[in-house]
Amino acid sequence: MRTDLPQTIRLADYTPFAWQVESVSLTFRLAPTATRVLSEIRFSPREGAQPGAFFLHGEGLRLIACAIDGAAVEPTLTDQGLTCPVPTGPFTFTSEVEINPEANTSLNGLYMSNGMYCSQCEAEGFRRITYYPDRPDVLAPFEVRIEGEAPVLLSNGNPTGSGKGWATWVDPWPKPSYLFALVAGDLVAHSDRFTTSEGRDVALNIWVRPGDEGKCAYAMDALKRSMTWDEEVYGRAYDLDVFNIVAVDDFNMGAMENKGLNIFNSKYVLASPETATDRDFELIEGIIAHEYFHNWTGNRITCRDWFQLCLKEGLTVYRDQQFSGDMRGHAVNRIDNVLALRARQFREDAGPLAHPVRPESYIEINNFYTATVYEKGAELIGMLRALVGDEGYAKALDLYFTRHDGEAATIEDWLKVFEDATGEDLTQFARWYSQAGTPTVTASTQFDEGVFSLTLKQHTAPTPGQPDKEPQVIPVAVGLLDSNGNEAVPTQVLNLNKTEQTFDFKGFINEPTPSILRGFSAPVVLEIEQSTETRAFLLANDTDPFNRWEAGRQLTRQTLIEALDGAPPRPELAAGLGRVLSDESLDPAFRALVLSLPGIDDIAQSLYDAGRTPDPTAIYIARKGVAQSLAAALEQPLGQAYEAMQTPGPYQPTAQDAGKRALRGAALGFLSHLDAGARAAELFAASANMTETTTALAQLIAQGTGAAQISAFAADWSHDRLVMDKWFALQTSACPPEQAAETARNLTEHPDFDWKNPNRFRSVFGGLMANTAGFHDATGDAYTLLADWLIKLDPVNPQTTARMTTAFETWRRYDADRQGMMKEALERIKATKGLSRDTSEMVNRLLA
Ligand code: ARG
Ligand code: ZN
Repeated sequence: MRTDLPQTIRLADYTPFAWQVESVSLTFRLAPTATRVLSEIRFSPREGAQPGAFFLHGEGLRLIACAIDGAAVEPTLTDQGLTCPVPTGPFTFTSEVEINPEANTSLNGLYMSNGMYCSQCEAEGFRRITYYPDRPDVLAPFEVRIEGEAPVLLSNGNPTGSGKGWATWVDPWPKPSYLFALVAGDLVAHSDRFTTSEGRDVALNIWVRPGDEGKCAYAMDALKRSMTWDEEVYGRAYDLDVFNIVAVDDFNMGAMENKGLNIFNSKYVLASPETATDRDFELIEGIIAHEYFHNWTGNRITCRDWFQLCLKEGLTVYRDQQFSGDMRGHAVNRIDNVLALRARQFREDAGPLAHPVRPESYIEINNFYTATVYEKGAELIGMLRALVGDEGYAKALDLYFTRHDGEAATIEDWLKVFEDATGEDLTQFARWYSQAGTPTVTASTQFDEGVFSLTLKQHTAPTPGQPDKEPQVIPVAVGLLDSNGNEAVPTQVLNLNKTEQTFDFKGFINEPTPSILRGFSAPVVLEIEQSTETRAFLLANDTDPFNRWEAGRQLTRQTLIEALDGAPPRPELAAGLGRVLSDESLDPAFRALVLSLPGIDDIAQSLYDAGRTPDPTAIYIARKGVAQSLAAALEQPLGQAYEAMQTPGPYQPTAQDAGKRALRGAALGFLSHLDAGARAAELFAASANMTETTTALAQLIAQGTGAAQISAFAADWSHDRLVMDKWFALQTSACPPEQAAETARNLTEHPDFDWKNPNRFRSVFGGLMANTAGFHDATGDAYTLLADWLIKLDPVNPQTTARMTTAFETWRRYDADRQGMMKEALERIKATKGLSRDTSEMVNRLLA
């Protein structure tokens, strides 16, 4: 019976499962094409529940036999699961099923990667392993026995026994099935130990393929720092005797927080100076922390249903950002996070895929692991904290952990904890969870008889399904500067909660300069009429590092837009950037961020917001012109910075050295416009670390002069998958736009283009998407190429395919020709026979 016609799941329809699972015992008899899974599940009626029909999820399973209390039953099977009559009291359900891990290319459920068994169960992969109530509000203790030939056999919890060909594991902490994991393979461990603040001695292991054990030290160090940090900052200690991490080459996402057995995309574990860039080290640190922090925010307290995904993800992103800020410096970290938020989440909120942080319906939940749920979800935590203060936040979190430990909670529970701990009324704040779209805050000022008045208005444009928006609670951090650049009024948080409000500051002789939305205190678009002089003044003087950077950003954005209309860059820009560039009191990483020009996608959105139709090719040309003229104006200080920012001695992945390399790379980017890549070629030849190698190679590729270096790089690194991913991605992302589609097409014919490996597929096509002018080249070649490949990938890996359709999410911004071609590409994907539920939901939303 076929029942998998696209079904919309709604938050409003939530009903609890009528049974409790008392215990789960699983036995795996591993075989690549015919793994047997035996289950023994103890059910009892849940108190007070209305027992409906007994239904267990199950997909792609071959049922061998099942029984209730030892007596065989013949259940009714659909392609989504089984139903059967059950006793009114407690009972034991046993089953044996057969699955085929080797044929599982979706990387969802139990699958194989380079001969190793591994699993991914979030969100709904466990139902591809055995029959089970595969929903996050069903928590149970698991016991697992694995039988197989592989030398290493891992599951969740603590190991309880092993022998030749078998191992047993017990996870004492009740958990939902999405946190189940199993790994079996020929693996080696990089091991260490950690003693928790509660005195527990924990064995730490990072499991990798033989040969990779030398690339785990940084991840291990990041893990230990994360464990210490969570004890010190949140009072949360680890709760098992072992913590295992496994690196897997074939993985749809970044990593997964399975209880006691985190599984990682190998790209976020393995690192050495020769093979990993500063950015890779930073991401490894952040993702190791993220998954570790999930042990409390996600595992000990989980989500009632998938609509509450932001409960664990928003909070855990917030926590990993706090950690990274503590490790690497808050100002630069905040700017990086806001850059990513604007590039991904604001873009999502402005297009057809806009959805609330807590969505109200979905067809395929995997399509909602989005920047909105994750990154905007984290911003909501930051705003809550700004509203209740640091002490209130600490109290609320303590209450959250004590009140909800061991439970599957909701956003209502989360907000109630804050209300109970602080006495705050969060009724209006709750709109942030239900209302999609990025609010625009428009600021205007008045100065009259010593009173400085700041008027703030808020407006949120309609989003799909939400034509009318209510005002939000927006914490706006504001400071005022006097004409010497001194702080006249230190930062205070204004609580904007109406459509329009005016805030007065009294007692001035001269008009102060406002610095608004300091630290990016809310995820909004701030609009303010500001003169070039004011922006240059803030770039030179703002005491808030975020807004200082933001002032520079506004200046460069304005310059780029004016350049499109043929205007030369204003002299204030080069002067302002030059001052920052040469200011040795400033962190080099910060200076690098000030020097980085807004990308083409950023400018395209700004133009679109201003009612214009962006032409990505024209923006590319204008941007190059601005870069060239800035390089000419600043040649001397840029050359000086390039020399001064060398990091002699052995490579260190510290924030400090990475900052120097970032500034050096930024300088190189400008200077390459003047020397036709001469410095980049020199750097490439001399480089002994991957950061400088890829920085140099990107410049050469952008200049169109990198052919020899592209070959040399491939010759050096063809044995290393992760490094070759960079080689593929650099070519499509950095090449001149008119060559992008052809470059991508040629790369798909390369013998190492293993298109079923998500990292490799994303290298080529993620790189192409990131090459905004190349992807939107007027020929439409890139649209066609990507659509062809998405159609090819969909039956193999629906999750990755669906995710990559977001390349088209901005289609309505562009001119009629481009719109027509993108629409056609989407229509063609949509018309594909047998299209997955994942991808069809995405293209339908994109076209709606
Ligand atoms: N919970 C994981 C994390 O944020 C992400 C897993 C997403 N998996 C998926 N199939 N959508 O760390
Ligand atoms: Zn997460």
